[in-house]
Amino acid sequence: MSIHVYSSSEELSAAAAREFAARAEEAIEECGRFAVVLAGGSTPETMYGILARDYIGRIDWSKVYAFFGDERSVPPHHDDSNLKMASEALLDHVPVGNVHRIRGELPPEEAAQAYEEELRAFFQTEDIPQFDLVLLGIGADGHTASLFPETSAIEVHDRWVVANPVLKLDTTRITLTIPAINAARAVIFLVAGEDKAEALKEILEGGADSRAYPATLIQPPGGPQWLLDQSAASLLGNR
Ligand code: 6PG
Repeated sequence: MSIHVYSSSEELSAAAAREFAARAEEAIEECGRFAVVLAGGSTPETMYGILARDYIGRIDWSKVYAFFGDERSVPPHHDDSNLKMASEALLDHVPVGNVHRIRGELPPEEAAQAYEEELRAFFQTEDIPQFDLVLLGIGADGHTASLFPETSAIEVHDRWVVANPVLKLDTTRITLTIPAINAARAVIFLVAGEDKAEALKEILEGGADSRAYPATLIQPPGGPQWLLDQSAASLLGNR
């Protein structure tokens, strides 16, 4: 595990774009493609914009395959759609090899099964998918992707994608499972803003209960990389 703290969310986003480009180059060199999982929410939007603006000629986008860590149960053009956010900030502006979206317009269980089949077809394996990079955020409640506290999805170990009912949001989200994320070659958390400071302290220093803070369950080989801005890191000890 590594933790990097940046003076602002802009600095954090620029650093994340550099990491993305470095991992893309490495994977394309080694395997001829870069399979990356995009994070939803609002925090990665600036990073996506930097990639679209400054990395259009510096990444072989035709070899980039974009996936999603989770999606809301909405159609692709809905304002809450993670696909819509990522497309407007990045995917509409770069010649990506392929975009593998989660069909949020389908009944959630159907969308989850369809996405798992799509991943199996892409990775041609029955074992577990190995993404080159998974980008994640966290919520102030310690959730990541759509793995929310005290929800059924955090106990699932025999599926790659599930429909996860989230009572407090009165909705069902579609999300990658913990094993599917933890099998990745690299996982990067992007976390900005003071509202995340309490949860970060619990996750990184508190020995938090994993059912209460599912982000603690994200443990890929070598541990995740945490890119934080100063506000989010404000409660962490001597950083
Ligand atoms: C989503 C995300 C979710 C997100 C966090 C943080 O669909 O909302 O996958 O896990 O990363 O909720 O969201 P913000 O970046 O908007 O704070």
